This record gives sequence, C-alpha cells and structure tokens, in this order.
Amino acid sequence: MTGPLHDQTVLVIGRGSGLARAVTLAARDAGARVIAAGRNQETLAAAYAGEPCITTERVDLTDETSIAALGERLSVVDHVVSTASARARGRVADLERDAIRRSFDTKVIGPLMLAKHLAPRMPADGSIVIFSGVAASKIAVGTLGVAITNGAADVLARSLALELAPIRVNAVSPGVIDTGAWDGFGEQGKADYFADISARNPARRIGTVDDIANGVMFALTSTFLTGQTLHIDGGEPLT
Ligand SMILES: NC(=O)c1ccc[n+]([C@@H]2O[C@H](COP(=O)([O-])OP(=O)(O)OC[C@H]3O[C@@H](n4cnc5c(N)ncnc54)[C@H](OP(=O)(O)O)[C@@H]3O)[C@@H](O)[C@H]2O)c1
Repeated sequence: MTGPLHDQTVLVIGRGSGLARAVTLAARDAGARVIAAGRNQETLAAAYAGEPCITTERVDLTDETSIAALGERLSVVDHVVSTASARARGRVADLERDAIRRSFDTKVIGPLMLAKHLAPRMPADGSIVIFSGVAASKIAVGTLGVAITNGAADVLARSLALELAPIRVNAVSPGVIDTGAWDGFGEQGKADYFADISARNPARRIGTVDDIANGVMFALTSTFLTGQTLHIDGGEPLT
C-alpha cells in the first residue's frame, strides 16, 4: 500500500477495538505494516482476522520481561503507539492503592519501559506516541487517579522527546470518546453524560475514534513535531 507510512512498521499496543483499532486501521491505510500487540494475542488475532498488513503480538505493559521479549522478537520498528490504560476512577476515599499503581504501571511506567527496550531498535526518524487524556487538563472530583496518571504521561512524552532525540515522542490527549470505556456508567448514565459533555464543550459533540486516529497519524508523520501533547478534546477544558 502507498501512503505517508509506506514501508514502515508501526507497533500499536492496546485492545482490538476502541482507539487502538482506529489507529491500527488508519496506520495500515497510510501504508504501514502494523503489529497490534496486547495482553491477549488470540483476541487480537480474531479482531484483525482477514485484515491485510496487520499481524499480532503479545505484550503486558505491567511486565518489563514481557516488553523486553517483545523487543527481542521485533527486529526493527519505526513507530510505537501505546493506547493501553487501566483507569483508576473514584473519589479519594474510594481509591485503592493497587488501582492507582496499576494505572501508573500501564500508562506511564509501561510506555517508559517500551521506550527503554524499543528505542534502540528504532531508526533516527522513528517516533513514539503515548496516550494521555482530558482528565489531566479538566480537573474534576472523581477523576483524580486518571488525571495524575495522564499528567505523568504528558511529562513522560516531553522527557523522552529530549532524551531519545532525534526519535520524536508526543502524547495524544483525547476528550470523551464512545469506545466502550464509559459503559460502566450504564446505558442511561452514559447517554446523560454524553449529552452533558456535548451541551457544554465548544465542539458541541463527543469525539469519534477517527478524530483521535487522525491526531495520531498527524503525530506519526509530522517530522518537526516532538515533545507535545495534542489535545483532541472538543475544547472541554475551556468549560
Ligand atoms: N475513550 C475515552 O473517552 C478516552 C478519554 C481520554 C483518554 N482516553 C485514553 O485513550 C486510550 C484508549 O482508550 P480506549 O477507550 O480506546 O481504550 P480503554 O478502554 O482505555 O482500553 C485500554 C486497553 O488497554 C489494554 N491494557 C490494559 N492493561 C494493559 C497491559 N498491562 N498491557 C497491555 N495492554 C493493556 C486493555 O486491553 P485488553 O483488555 O484487551 O488487554 C484495555 O482494554 C487510553 O489510554 C485511554 O485512557 C480515552
């Protein structure tokens, strides 16, 4: 396939649905060979069955041995995108230490270990995109655990951009997107939440997976962009 990522290999970490899937398909459609990696390779293989130029791998971002082994199995990788997360929602009184640790482990320490083990296999014009999220920019009661994790992911992107240069490192910070991540609110709770966000934010809608995949493609292909967080959130922090 031809396109801006022609002949490049992109590793996308996360589930076989939601934002990871949109990024995987967009990168493939931009000409890349995509390796979709996650905790359950069989589920990923089923999710991408029949899709050309997409293969699957196994990795657990909370396990450095697993990340190092993935690095060993991949010869060269041009771009790495980590969408994995383990949200620790709730008010301070309800936050479990283990949930906070898992959140940081998945979204901050895991991507840092990915950089440690994969950057040495990346070319000078390679890049990394890690995922942050709007909770870091729009402080609210009940999302402290998510906010501090995303804030750390933002700082990680800037820090890696300096240390790994000229490999570029950016973060993408989505606003509210219907990926199934909000299903825990229940059908009515989710509908009410989306209606409230859409009524208040300047974009007057919630986001789509393609809004975010387009942002990731911009980060992967913009060779003068590094150390930035792209806020693709409908302007929600302004409200
Ligand atoms: N959706 C939104 O509204 C929104 C808003 C702000 C930020 N974001 C961020 O955008 C990213 C993608 O969001 P999403 O809604 O598409 O997905 P998500 O619901 O956040 O799912 C992330 C996936 O990461 C995988 N994962 C968890 N722990 C892992 C580990 N240790 N190693 C490897 N993979 C692991 C899990 O997949 P498996 O269960 O298959 O292993 C999980 O389903 C996340 O970083 C999220 O925080 C999303």
